[in-house]
Amino acid sequence: MKVQFTETVLRDANQSLIATRLPFDKFAPILETMNRAGYYSVECWGGATFDSCLRFLNEDPWERLRKIKEKMPDTKLQMLLRGQNLLGYKHYPDDVVRKFVQLSVANGIDIIRIFDALNDLRNIRVAVEETNRCGAHASGAISYTTSPVHTLENYVALAKEMENMGVGSICIKDMAGVMAPQEAYDLVKAIKGAVKIPVVVHTHCTTGLAFMTYLKAVEAGADVIDTASSCFSGGTSQPATETLCYALRQLGYTIDLNDKVLKEVNDFFKPIRAEYIANGTLNPTVLATDTDALNYQIPGGMLSNLISQLKAQNALDRLDEVLLETPRVRKDLGYPPLVTPMSQMVGVQAATNVLIGERYKNISKEVKAYLRGEYGQAPGPIDRALQEKALDGETPVTCRFADTLEDAFEKTKAELGDKASCDEDVLSYIAFPQVAEKFFKEREARRENCVKYSIEAM
Ligand code: CO
Repeated sequence: MKVQFTETVLRDANQSLIATRLPFDKFAPILETMNRAGYYSVECWGGATFDSCLRFLNEDPWERLRKIKEKMPDTKLQMLLRGQNLLGYKHYPDDVVRKFVQLSVANGIDIIRIFDALNDLRNIRVAVEETNRCGAHASGAISYTTSPVHTLENYVALAKEMENMGVGSICIKDMAGVMAPQEAYDLVKAIKGAVKIPVVVHTHCTTGLAFMTYLKAVEAGADVIDTASSCFSGGTSQPATETLCYALRQLGYTIDLNDKVLKEVNDFFKPIRAEYIANGTLNPTVLATDTDALNYQIPGGMLSNLISQLKAQNALDRLDEVLLETPRVRKDLGYPPLVTPMSQMVGVQAATNVLIGERYKNISKEVKAYLRGEYGQAPGPIDRALQEKALDGETPVTCRFADTLEDAFEKTKAELGDKASCDEDVLSYIAFPQVAEKFFKEREARRENCVKYSIEAM
């Protein structure tokens, strides 16, 4: 039996441990080495990397992707895409989704892992279709969570529906690290029995279950697991690549990873980790095991977001109350899985409820939109009174929300004129308008400076 590995150090580990603050120049020197490791794929783009590049790192995310591809021509590059939400927090019209997929593939992406926060498959269909049309691999991801409405039968039905939709693999995406070994075994076994395509398992170490969960998932027939180079593993990140490679090989599984290369990769990232611990970007708390998540169902990124949000408001002492309020808000909303953007929406609403001292006195714009049905179908029943309060007489949307949106790419391109230098810029702008505009200006200033210096040098 063969087990393959997706390395997450450049995306999920980076996002979960250091808020996606790793600039390209920091990891560029190791890419050619990583290219020889024998990974199934390297997850390096999408998720929060795009926003972080533009907002904090002054980097063009598209250029980053092209530069990674150049140094890793033999490795499948993977990205995470939130279906109709792309990388942002709202739904985009189909023409924008298609263009985004086309240009992601054109700039170097081989595998697009596509999920919807609510597992409303109407919201991944267009992205899956376009990925296949572009000749890339569409991986359909199921947002894993536990709740009274998330049953084994429902998960298997989702996997089958995704296979019929044309995905090349099914990923079980446990962003909170709450999938226990037995649950993983049962779920992988059931999905493997129902579909013909490979099954990928993704989890986080947050609660300490992950290594055991992967072992049982592999025993049940999982084809690929997501892991992170050991010095960027553990805590809110993935389990360590080297550890699982060592243990699974001893159990008789075939693993095509090069140990020497894995060590070089880890040795490279060690001083980077030390630097981020020293400058405070990597808070050692997120490296520890926190079993609270088993009760609160808080994913790695969400817990650190909540902590920094409360810190900023001088209310860190209210954390325990917010953690108790979070599952209540989630129940009221029909048990959405706590994945972006639902994790932020539920977290912010729970914090607001606690800090104001009255539940739903303020309902965020996003939660209102959710209650109007703009994010898709909630997995379970929504609290009626809350919905009525939020809708204030409006009728909720029942169709696929994107069907209510008009095409936007060409129109935005025309409006931007020469502010955008290529179609990729137009998409950056559509995804994060203010941030992208500021980035374009700074990029322009840098270019003018370069020209000035080179003229002076002549
Ligand atoms: Co993750």
